[in-house]
Amino acid sequence: MSRLVVISNRVPLPDKSGAAPAGGLAVALQAALEERGGIWMGWSGKSTSGRETSGIDIREQGKITYALVDLSRKDVEEYYAGFANRVLWPLCHYRLDLTDYARKDMAGYFRVNRLFAQQLAPLIKPDDVIWVHDYHLIPLAAELRQMGLKNRIGFFLHIPWPPADVLFTLPVHETIMRGLASYDLVGFQTRHDAENFAGCLKREGIGKELGQGLFEAYGHVFRADVFPISIETAAFAEAARTSRRHALVGRMRQSLAGRDLIIGVDRLDYSKGITNRIEAFERFIVNNPDSRGRVTFLQVTPKSRSEVPEYGDMQRMVAELAGRVNGALSTVDWTPIRYVNRSIGRSVLAGLYRMAQVGLVTPLRDGMNLVAKEYVAAQDPENPGVLILSRFAGAARELDGALLVNPYDTDAVSDAIARALSMPIEARRERWNQMMPHLLENDVSHWCESFLKALAGHGETKGDER
Ligand code: UDP
Ligand code: G6P
Repeated sequence: MSRLVVISNRVPLPDKSGAAPAGGLAVALQAALEERGGIWMGWSGKSTSGRETSGIDIREQGKITYALVDLSRKDVEEYYAGFANRVLWPLCHYRLDLTDYARKDMAGYFRVNRLFAQQLAPLIKPDDVIWVHDYHLIPLAAELRQMGLKNRIGFFLHIPWPPADVLFTLPVHETIMRGLASYDLVGFQTRHDAENFAGCLKREGIGKELGQGLFEAYGHVFRADVFPISIETAAFAEAARTSRRHALVGRMRQSLAGRDLIIGVDRLDYSKGITNRIEAFERFIVNNPDSRGRVTFLQVTPKSRSEVPEYGDMQRMVAELAGRVNGALSTVDWTPIRYVNRSIGRSVLAGLYRMAQVGLVTPLRDGMNLVAKEYVAAQDPENPGVLILSRFAGAARELDGALLVNPYDTDAVSDAIARALSMPIEARRERWNQMMPHLLENDVSHWCESFLKALAGHGETKGDER
């Protein structure tokens, strides 16, 4: 079996005991790397003080080599905070109002991708299979091809792919499309994303569809297909079942004092629809006076990308809104919203999901949304809670037992909360049984294997005419 080389912006390093860090993606990819032997390369997360980018830090752990690149402050600003997170992230989440197309950031993005390629190329053997992850690294294959690499290279996009009218506002959209066309396999979360991509290829005559998932563009034949990412379903369900051993889970249950719990868990990101959700919860309380004092909404929201201005604005907006709603609705012995601005470990989270009668997952746009899948996996099969899920999350394509909502429609989300909290147990069980077998079968190992199989299976490429 050929070696596997994974490249992602962030590298989840194992702890000192060698255990994989929490998170389904890290666990699945590390298992694949252990099996085949391989390299995981990416940014160290550190920025060097000078303008110059430093070398590569190589660490061996079992059969896996971690290769970590430090970036200069300028690189981090332009590549990560600038182009990746003020251009590609908002663009792919349909937020043209938040994009900032600065030329220096575009240059920084392509420069850092070239740097990654230069650092990676000497480590690659001819039959290694290379798997690149996410929007930070789209141009990587094109850079590696230019350096003469003929390896099989796959790309998986964890976030949505926008329609042509949105993408074409990006001044360098052609270079980005050319970058994607340089892979042998491009994976998307949903059919909708793959169709948007096909639409972008066809619109300006950039490429054509050859059938059976094959495309031709810029003189290269490649495959684009759908691989919905998932979680370690069985392990997560087990973590939820045994979560009582965490003192924090017990304290949470005690503090609820018999009230119903609604849970939301998201990085502090404008794509997650957190303000809309708080407004919908407020509307629910106002419209259902009986619920006063009887329902608690726990919103777990670790800070994210604080160096990007839009995220700072968002932090202030959510904190103000949660404060205003609590001020307006609280009584001396009841606070409707518990807003927690820190990260909670996954085994405790599993217990909190299981305790919650409602999982409120209402992003305005999301590639997949793993929280939705985790909430379902964590439920007690005898007495499951109800998932309320945005129709604009990739997960909505699979989780047909959820109450699907339009997150922009405050009244509809408020109604869905009321419906979920009063749903009879038979209906809840039926909905959960509609979803759980699918999640057990289509877990993150299945995702990883399907992608790698497709990457290995795709026949010849016209490769390096460029
Ligand atoms: N998560 C966590 N602790 C937290 C908040 C989130 O471990 O306090 C995890 C969560 O369990 C999930 C992931 O972070 O596995 C978030 O993935 P998702 O696809 O929902 O959103 P993303 O952050 O990738 O946009
Ligand atoms: C999303 C992206 C990932 C990213 C993560 C956390 O899940 O798809 O690529 O790593 O958010 O964001 P951060 O900017 O902290 O890496």
